[in-house]
Amino acid sequence: MPETMTWPADRRITIKDLQAATDRGERWSMLTSYDTLTAGIFEQAGVRALLVGDTSAEMVLGYPDTLPVTMDQLIPMVQAVVRGTRTALVVADLPFGSYQAGPQAALANAVRHLKEGGAQAVKLEGGRRVVPQVQTLTGAGIPVMGHLGLTPQSVNVLGGMRRVQGRGDAGGELLADATALERAGAFAVVLESVPADLGRRVSEALRVPTVGIGAGPHCDAQILVWQDMAGLTTGRLPRFVKQYADTSGELLDAASRYAADVTAGRYPDQAHSYA
Ligand code: KIV
Repeated sequence: MPETMTWPADRRITIKDLQAATDRGERWSMLTSYDTLTAGIFEQAGVRALLVGDTSAEMVLGYPDTLPVTMDQLIPMVQAVVRGTRTALVVADLPFGSYQAGPQAALANAVRHLKEGGAQAVKLEGGRRVVPQVQTLTGAGIPVMGHLGLTPQSVNVLGGMRRVQGRGDAGGELLADATALERAGAFAVVLESVPADLGRRVSEALRVPTVGIGAGPHCDAQILVWQDMAGLTTGRLPRFVKQYADTSGELLDAASRYAADVTAGRYPDQAHSYA
């Protein structure tokens, strides 16, 4: 099969590969990843692109939202994900405060993600208001993924993290934002927590892929936070999360049996000791 019809096995996937898959109607998946081992597993599983997201603020660093994470905290995670993969496209999030001041701030931080982190692309949140940033980054040769709908960096103006965005008249605004991002050169647009019908309208309107997270079945690609997908996060999760494993339960069981074995003197036994 010619390489254009399949996914590369001996080089990194590029934004052109993602566009080609979308053009031929093939759905593809993304996951977040923040470390070497999970990155390698997700790549092996056929996940085409990995996002070192600012959700690492919550999932790795224990903050209540995504706002506190910094470039200096994200870059080692980007490096780890790049080191753990050979073919996946690695997208690095631009955290809150790293691009809002304008195109030059965005450029300086995006360059760090590519130069120091080794990422192949960056992601930022917002629509028409970040068009100058997207134009500057793409003009400098840096692929940009947009992010619309529920944009967690704006939690303080959105009034909560569980709100579905883009209902009613807001749908038209979101469509205009998506079109503006595509025109500015974005190679893909994440749609988070929007009605499925709006996900369909945006996907039909854009040539570049839409990457849905709680945006229904019509998006060209899907992304989930890996701890949600694998059942490591517990408690009340958004409706769109499907848990494919009970990692939390498995880990609790393993750690409990280990702790009990140590307490009872069953571990280490002879088989796990040096002669
Ligand atoms: O940071 C992140 O993980 C994200 C995804 C939820 C899309 O932006």
